[in-house]
Amino acid sequence: MQTPVTVVILAAGLGTRMKSRRAKVLHRVGGKPLVEHVIETALQLAPPERIFVVVGHQAEEVRRAVATPGIGFIHQSEQNGTGHAVMICREALAGLGGYLLILYGDSPLLRVETLTRLIDFEVSRDAENQTAGTLLTAHMHDPTGYGRVVRNARGHVADIVEQKAATPGQLAIREANMGIYCYRAEIFWRHIGKLRPNPASGEYYLTDMPAILDRAGFPVDALQIDDAREALGINSRVELAEVDALLRDRKRRELMLSGVTIEKPETVTIDAGVRIGMDTIVEPFAQILGKTTIGENCRIGAAAIVSDSELADGVEIGPFTVVHTSHLESGAHAGPFARLRMENHVAAGAHIGNFVELKKTRLGPGAKAMHLAYLGDSQIGAQVNIGAGTITCNYDGFHKHPTAIGDGSFIGSNSTLVAPIEIGVGAYVAAGSVITEPVPPDALALGRARQVLKPEWAKKRRAPKSSRA
Ligand code: UD1
Ligand code: CA
Repeated sequence: MQTPVTVVILAAGLGTRMKSRRAKVLHRVGGKPLVEHVIETALQLAPPERIFVVVGHQAEEVRRAVATPGIGFIHQSEQNGTGHAVMICREALAGLGGYLLILYGDSPLLRVETLTRLIDFEVSRDAENQTAGTLLTAHMHDPTGYGRVVRNARGHVADIVEQKAATPGQLAIREANMGIYCYRAEIFWRHIGKLRPNPASGEYYLTDMPAILDRAGFPVDALQIDDAREALGINSRVELAEVDALLRDRKRRELMLSGVTIEKPETVTIDAGVRIGMDTIVEPFAQILGKTTIGENCRIGAAAIVSDSELADGVEIGPFTVVHTSHLESGAHAGPFARLRMENHVAAGAHIGNFVELKKTRLGPGAKAMHLAYLGDSQIGAQVNIGAGTITCNYDGFHKHPTAIGDGSFIGSNSTLVAPIEIGVGAYVAAGSVITEPVPPDALALGRARQVLKPEWAKKRRAPKSSRA
């Protein structure tokens, strides 16, 4: 865009109506804090050094939630209203010419296209007849809670009246203020000092600016958007849930239109940062979170949870399986009921079955651990078979120790591998063994008590006392 735009995002309020100890803009929708959504949108309209976030409540946490470097923060130590929040920016921003875009940090659904329309509209009006700004409005079926837009005879904005202060006549106005404004920076900063505290609340209202500018001979216009939901400002947890649902719906539709099958989509949760390849099937109640990437032709089973993981093509995650920060190569299977706890690498064609837990473990190509096992801090070779009930004892109460299992070896059921331990290539561990010494390649290791047999013992035990010898 040629017009230089400076963006101010108001994010200092606590959000009393959220009934929370956490600042409102830190509450999450679509897997991200509210303010992060607004910042991502702003970044498509202005460079980071022209984006400023007004912080106050939990300023440090809000700063930390903002990932992009170079964004400016302005501290509003007392939350004296939306007008006050902008007033305190004057010193830092007045020197930046062009246009000033003011956004509220609690409106995460806003689209870049809508803001571009607003800016273009203001730029063209400005060239024609000296308007000083434009705000976004919408005709709402139920505008409860929003400021009502009062227009004058020429159609310009005469005033914005907040719900609390509105007369019955004004309450009947359906045109609502979306809280998104584009002003000519120089004129705006020249007049902002005229804001006065609201007599009822003592707060400075940014919504008084159109009337102030109009009186100074700079009319303010309003641009209507079709769907007010886009500008929905979150004030309560009910709205938080509504917006979350909308964002999730957007994401699922986008994926379905790009070739992903989602069964019972309304039950599936997918974060904005997730990527999924064509012909992958996502079953009901699955959750795919964070920065997860899934290839083509995969299947994510019912109620599985996959977060911050990478799945190559043809991977199958069975129902009720949890996968976190793990990498599965093509054709790998996990689940149902498996848990890949963290930082695992499962090579091509490897299988992990029910009630198997993996932690910081590498499973080689074609290796199998089909039932009831715990494999922690382990390097497991290609084509290894891990029997049911195998446990790596990786923790001695003080430190974690590694286990290494060579290619093609066979670990019998219910084996206990006391780490640090190494099992050589092609070795066998007999079922029920406790292994504490290294096993050389191709050896058989037995580590269990020898079986004792007592013929006829049971029969004698059952015989009546009188007939016993
Ligand atoms: C505001 C508008 C209202 C509009 C609605 C749209 C005003 C006075 N009213 O009302 O006309 O219809 O948004 O959603 O502007 N904030 C600060 N510092 C403060 C106060 C607020 O940074 O001192 C921030 C909040 O963190 C929030 C945003 O400004 O992100 C909006 O504040 P909020 O209290 O939610 O305004 P509304 O009552 O919703
Ligand atoms: Ca609000």
